[in-house]
Amino acid sequence: MSVAFHLDTDFYKAKVGSAVKRLTLVNFRNYKYLRLNIGAPFVVLSGENGSGKTNVLEAVSFLSQGRGLRNAKLSEVKTFDFLAATQQSPVFINNNGWAVSAQVERGGEEFNIGTAVESIVKETNYNEVKEVERRIVQVNNQKLASQNELGQYLSIIWVTPQMDRLFQTGAQARRSFLDRIVYAFDTSHARRLAAYDNLYRQWLQILKSGNINDSWLVALEDQMAGIGVAIAAARREQIQKLNDFTEQNPDDIFPTAQLSLDGTIEQMLDDKPAIYVEDFYRESLFNQRRNILYNDSGNGINKTDLLALYKKKNVPAELCSTGEQKSLLLSIILAQARFLIHTRGLPPILLLDEIAAHLDDIKRDAFLYKIRELNLQAWLTSTTPSDFLSIKNSAQFFTIKDNMVNEIAEGLEAAV
Ligand SMILES: Nc1ncnc2c1ncn2[C@@H]1O[C@H](COP(=O)(O)OP(=O)(O)O)[C@@H](O)[C@H]1O
Ligand SMILES: [Mg+2]
Repeated sequence: MSVAFHLDTDFYKAKVGSAVKRLTLVNFRNYKYLRLNIGAPFVVLSGENGSGKTNVLEAVSFLSQGRGLRNAKLSEVKTFDFLAATQQSPVFINNNGWAVSAQVERGGEEFNIGTAVESIVKETNYNEVKEVERRIVQVNNQKLASQNELGQYLSIIWVTPQMDRLFQTGAQARRSFLDRIVYAFDTSHARRLAAYDNLYRQWLQILKSGNINDSWLVALEDQMAGIGVAIAAARREQIQKLNDFTEQNPDDIFPTAQLSLDGTIEQMLDDKPAIYVEDFYRESLFNQRRNILYNDSGNGINKTDLLALYKKKNVPAELCSTGEQKSLLLSIILAQARFLIHTRGLPPILLLDEIAAHLDDIKRDAFLYKIRELNLQAWLTSTTPSDFLSIKNSAQFFTIKDNMVNEIAEGLEAAV
């Protein structure tokens, strides 16, 4: 499968990007209340360590599906009272909840996205009820059936300091990175993953209970095999397309990363029909019944890894220097952003947490320049905002102190 794509900077310039114009946080981490009005493609947040820079980016990340850029539990996000004793909020909110709301502009149209946490009472398996928290999302004040639909409105891509080690840590982080890429292009991917997860949990629960219900297990395995193969196929397709795109449109500064999937199911789809792979999947789940509780080393899509190759040098990412790994990561992000604009006409919003680390000044400025060229909005953080002076004409600079965010309106050079 090979598709032709051609890069053309005028193409991007003609597009109107997506951008958050106003962001409001209530009871979110260290902000009892915060409102930011944004009118520039770059938003630079500076402040000491622990001042709350990443928290703002995390809030924006909740405008997309999932648990945000920290992969947080819903309950840890709401403002801890002991940290907010002196803060006031003009907005009343149920004390258990938190909320993020944003006025968004996309392609010349405005809409708002809101997300909040609500407590609901849920019945457990044993006819007891317990209170659980869940995140609800709204677009233009209409509740969405599921947060997975958010991807139709906005695409958000983030780079965090933890990802500097993406190619070196466990496969889990790479797998979620992979699945976020796939989701950006194919929003039903999140629904499939959630469904698979849910089935898998039920399946494990039955096996753990020792109360083996054979027909129930068979039904679950059947569904897991079907959805699992669909997930693997979507991953293969998107990674293949992204590779084709980068191959035909290599960046002049950032090294091309060739991506591949290390997963039994994905690899099997290279040369076997889906129906065969599905049978194989079902059988291997059946065979795993006996030992899954002791040795979870099966063939499932929840084991797949994402590999990256520094193409020009033919070196796997994990063997590259720290700086090279950072360049590879940014190169994947750029490729994804460009490809998204091409295929979905959906310019992503970038959240770039401390990206200046492990990047020389030239690469850093080149990266910023490329983002500007793509007409994207990017949120940047740094303890040393002078890192971003090269974009001062298209940026708004804010400093954060004592849970307050203030814009540096004048005398930027002196202030940073
Ligand atoms: N739920 C919470 N309620 C209040 N404050 C929080 C909460 N979670 C984290 N914080 C505060 O946020 C701070 C970290 O903010 P962060 O955005 O990571 O800082 P940085 O500016 O270094 O990126 C911590 O100092 C912590 O006190
Ligand atoms: Mg931080």
